[in-house]
Amino acid sequence: MSDQNLKLLLALRQWGDVQQLNAIFGPGNENGIEIVTWTQDGSRIFSDATSLDADIVLIDPTLPAFEANDIQRLYHHETKPIVTLGAIPPQGDWGSRLYQLGIKGHVNLPIGEAQARALVAMGHKAVQDALRERASPSYIPQVSTQVAQIIATHGWEKSMVAVWAAKGGVGKSTISENLAAVLGVIANRNTVLIDANMAGGNTHIHLGFPESVIAKNIAALARRYQMNLSTQGYRSAGNVGMLSAQSVLSPSEVQGHLTPFRNNLRVLIGLPKQFMGGDEYFQGELGRGYMHELLAVVASMADFVVMDLGQDTNAAVHLQALRDANYVFVVINPDAASVRATGEVMETLFKHVQLDAKKFRLVVNRFHPEHGIARKDIVNALQMPEVGVVPDGGPKVTASLNRGYPLVIDSRGEIARAIVSIASTLYPPVSQVWAHRGKLGGEKSEGLGKKLTDLVFGA
Ligand SMILES: Nc1ncnc2c1ncn2[C@@H]1O[C@H](COP(=O)(O)OP(=O)(O)OP(=O)(O)O)[C@@H](O)[C@H]1O
Ligand SMILES: [Mg+2]
Repeated sequence: MSDQNLKLLLALRQWGDVQQLNAIFGPGNENGIEIVTWTQDGSRIFSDATSLDADIVLIDPTLPAFEANDIQRLYHHETKPIVTLGAIPPQGDWGSRLYQLGIKGHVNLPIGEAQARALVAMGHKAVQDALRERASPSYIPQVSTQVAQIIATHGWEKSMVAVWAAKGGVGKSTISENLAAVLGVIANRNTVLIDANMAGGNTHIHLGFPESVIAKNIAALARRYQMNLSTQGYRSAGNVGMLSAQSVLSPSEVQGHLTPFRNNLRVLIGLPKQFMGGDEYFQGELGRGYMHELLAVVASMADFVVMDLGQDTNAAVHLQALRDANYVFVVINPDAASVRATGEVMETLFKHVQLDAKKFRLVVNRFHPEHGIARKDIVNALQMPEVGVVPDGGPKVTASLNRGYPLVIDSRGEIARAIVSIASTLYPPVSQVWAHRGKLGGEKSEGLGKKLTDLVFGA
């Protein structure tokens, strides 16, 4: 078998399909792809593909003992990516499920000659794309078994973090989006980012979500909460028994309002219009109840919850989030006005609302040694431990917000490092993942992709 040929593993049920494929991909064919083996046992796919050095796997998902996770494991296989194509059975809704799991193309079963021929171009393209992605600086490998073991031995706890500031425009969104991306994308922990800024959300813009998903936002879920509350009241008034003890929002309702970003990060999109913060379901008891219940449900389904909160402590939603969070990261800029404003707001906050001061941490953003204000003075003035210092990155930080994904995804610079360090206070193993990622990722890559990255992030 020629070394230049791509190697194809067939994981199919029917001999008829295999015969069709053999006519195109059999020994000595001219199509640049050769079949290495055929299996009907789903549990063999991963070991066969890796030991036979396959490049492409064609999978019928109804094969006995097929493991859905194998698609990702193969794709992120350390020695090289192994792409999966789907062989979609006529019955059932397999197509969309398989694409969610990561297949890179498909043919329909049963396989006729045209289907088999279509696989030639599809297979080559999928492998090329996978190799290109692996070589790019934004490639995020899954952790190896060795790293996974390190992770398993480190202690960490699920947690909910509110990112808050006493002032607008200091970097709450930048910090919360990047922090969520470190936890959910790089560390691959199940993470939910909630854009709860009642002065208007912006994560959907920063994360480049299409217009079509923006209607599924924190206000739509609040309306659902309000509606459920009224029907539940109605039902329990009708003496249906235990219904009043039931929660008002179900996990599937919450899940249905989350938008997947990448890997393990999902987002509850914020208010697309600023005035919506004044809507009745965000006010008073109703707003507090909604936020409390939302956080309880999200916490039950995620390892980490990161909230982007607006500065207004009169907003019921913000206050409730500050109460329920395990940690509050207070973002400040290193200027005297920002420190003073923060001190004053904190003082009134603690006077009027019972909040555990021990869970507050300081994040100094846009720090520059020449600003003439020392970190220890900020810490002393505000009497909060410091959890991180993020340097001022100049215009490239704003550029990263404009291009539609957080900078930590593909930057190895100082800002990314600072945010990984903040994330490691919640999830220590992320430091290892980050170090490991440097070795596996495309740091060595050259060419256009590298030049563009240099333009955005500096060499
Ligand atoms: N470390 C940094 N270095 C350079 N620029 C930064 C840094 N952090 C944030 N910025 C820039 O500051 C501006 C405000 O940041 P961001 O939107 O994150 O603040 P915010 O507190 O969420 O604002 P708002 O109160 O309007 O929601 C953005 O243009 C962002 O690019
Ligand atoms: Mg913001």
